[in-house]
Amino acid sequence: MKVRKAVVAAAGFGTRFLPASKSVPKEMLALLDRPLIHYAAAEAAASGIEHLIIITSRGKESMADYFDRAPDLEAALEAKGRSHLLAEVRELYERLQPAYVRQHEQLGLGHAVLSARKAVGDEPFAVFLPDDIIVSDRKPALAQMLEVFEKHQGSVVAVQSLPREDLPSYGVVDPEPVADRVTRVKGLVEKPKPEDAPSNLGIVGRYIFTPEIFDCLERTQPGSGGEIQLTDGMALLAQQQPMFAYEFEGTRFDTGNPLGMLKATVTMALQRDDMASDFREWLKGQAL
Ligand code: UTP
Repeated sequence: MKVRKAVVAAAGFGTRFLPASKSVPKEMLALLDRPLIHYAAAEAAASGIEHLIIITSRGKESMADYFDRAPDLEAALEAKGRSHLLAEVRELYERLQPAYVRQHEQLGLGHAVLSARKAVGDEPFAVFLPDDIIVSDRKPALAQMLEVFEKHQGSVVAVQSLPREDLPSYGVVDPEPVADRVTRVKGLVEKPKPEDAPSNLGIVGRYIFTPEIFDCLERTQPGSGGEIQLTDGMALLAQQQPMFAYEFEGTRFDTGNPLGMLKATVTMALQRDDMASDFREWLKGQAL
């Protein structure tokens, strides 16, 4: 069955980005000239997704404003011959027709995904964590995962090979090799101690799930941090259906914290035709 819908989990508090995230949703912080949520929408659209479901919460209405039409601004730009400035976001809106579901309490990522149950219905779907930005010069990360989904017929989770000392910040898979970059998920552990981790493959923010994940999340009790963990729901799903981990091709940045955002900004500025040469010159002049 085709994956048509993507859920973007964007209801969290974003505490690692306080105080900035107190009044600006983390997902609306700019990476260069686009907010983080724009990159998730663009990756979804470039991967063939037809409909976006954004999980939001109180105080985050600016995400819906971003993907809405803005007739007065559009008219002003039109009059000055500068409509191209909004063309990309308008195309995303028209292509993805974003819908919004409120997560009334921030009870964890698993709970956020479960909030999308009615909007998704009984079909496979993708999940994005918008602060994981993945830059790939081959195909978008989600498009790569969709190939794995079609070939192996099971849920797919993106993973990255990580230094052992970083594993306590991640969900980690217990893998069984299947093909190049693809392993079958035998089990999952949320935030293991380095010595207890079943592998060095940490989960990053792209997933494709069969709809049975919702029943598994219903049965998931609050775990680490008192939150309903997506990883715990996935562990239940992996017991009843095939689930695969895929080591995507590309570079991933955790823009949910200031240093990660800075690294992503520098890398992407150096790839942008309109700023790379000026920025490179400026960088050379810095005492590094
Ligand atoms: P994070 O673990 O980054 O949590 O969630 P957070 O609240 O955004 O940020 P920190 O850790 O406090 O700095 C990963 C993704 O899941 C969403 C977040 O918005 C983020 O995109 N999320 C998390 C929800 O939608 N609801 C939740 O209850 C928790």
